[in-house]
Amino acid sequence: MHLTGEEERALDGEYGEALGAAYRVLVAVGGLLDAPRLIPVKSVHVSGVNYANMGDAGLEFLEEFSREARVSVPTTVNPCGVDVWSPGPYIPGSFLEKQRRMVDAYLRMGCRESFSCIPYESENRPPPGSHVSWAESSASIYANSILGVWTNRESGLSALASAVTGKTPEGGIHIEENRRPGYQLIVDARLDDPIDYGLAAYYAAGKTSAYTISFQGIPEPGPQAAKQMAAAIGAAGSSSMFVISGERLKGVDVDVFSGEQLLRLRMELGGPLEVEGSIVILGCPFYGLEEMRSLSAMVEGRVARVPIFLQTSKSIYGEAEELGLVDSLSSSGVTILKGACYTLAPIDRWIGADHVYTDSIKAVHYMRMRGIDARLASLREIALLFT
Ligand code: F3S
Repeated sequence: MHLTGEEERALDGEYGEALGAAYRVLVAVGGLLDAPRLIPVKSVHVSGVNYANMGDAGLEFLEEFSREARVSVPTTVNPCGVDVWSPGPYIPGSFLEKQRRMVDAYLRMGCRESFSCIPYESENRPPPGSHVSWAESSASIYANSILGVWTNRESGLSALASAVTGKTPEGGIHIEENRRPGYQLIVDARLDDPIDYGLAAYYAAGKTSAYTISFQGIPEPGPQAAKQMAAAIGAAGSSSMFVISGERLKGVDVDVFSGEQLLRLRMELGGPLEVEGSIVILGCPFYGLEEMRSLSAMVEGRVARVPIFLQTSKSIYGEAEELGLVDSLSSSGVTILKGACYTLAPIDRWIGADHVYTDSIKAVHYMRMRGIDARLASLREIALLFT
């Protein structure tokens, strides 16, 4: 990969060890992508914030790196493992203390206090056509597919390197050719709710490693369905983008997804609705105002029979508070978490739950990988857990 003289000097540590390390990460990634050069990015979204994933080694690295490193472009960050502003009584003190130290490290580097996996709904919305460097697969796939911005599915480390340098290797889906579909799923099934869109996407992503997946036979997804599709693709495969095509494509691999396959997949990921020993996690990716409104309308005047956790960002929480949604959901027994991802934190152990219900395919996928009895349920089914 060609570097400018200035980049070479930065790589050699002339401007500090942190910047040199960041350039070394980008040169290694650029080599894997066969990138000819580095290009500037408009914004960065960093993952690697949840202490449950990062552990002590991650915390140590971040504390050391943040002594010197500072971001050079607008940078948002992914959720923590707990709501550091209002932690629940069941959160172990040592987890909370270490999570707060990770938060401090990111803020010291100049990251925005977003702690959200849907930065595109409030804090980080670059104009279409921008090149960015976003980690968090659901966010980067959404960014490519819906916002029309260009980003590879970055790791936490490569995104952090981009945040410090303001650059990313010009490879992968930053190349126009890779944004053309390399695979098409013909959907011969009725998609009734956002989960069904997610299931079609989950199926497709497990079948291909093409950068871009085309879906034929489905209407343009609304924002909630698009979030589910992006998250499901991120969980099941390596693709970076999806498009909805009106026509069948020639010269690409094709599969058909029938109504029967949809039902089978839904049953595989679902399970019977039980009250005893259950908890519910909603908002993976985080809920925005629309999803909060839908839930509030569905359960108004009723109270949850099991602990229900709803994940959203601090800024969306603020807006929901003004709209009265926080009050109405809280009075129905819903605990609204700010900037926290329980999908990846051991909430089931902390609270002693046997099953977790969620309306997210991504959440079922990752929780089952961790040995949790996670079951997919639509919002309508989850509403049955309110009395
Ligand atoms: Fe967001 Fe956590 Fe799901 S980061 S997409 S809520 S796994």
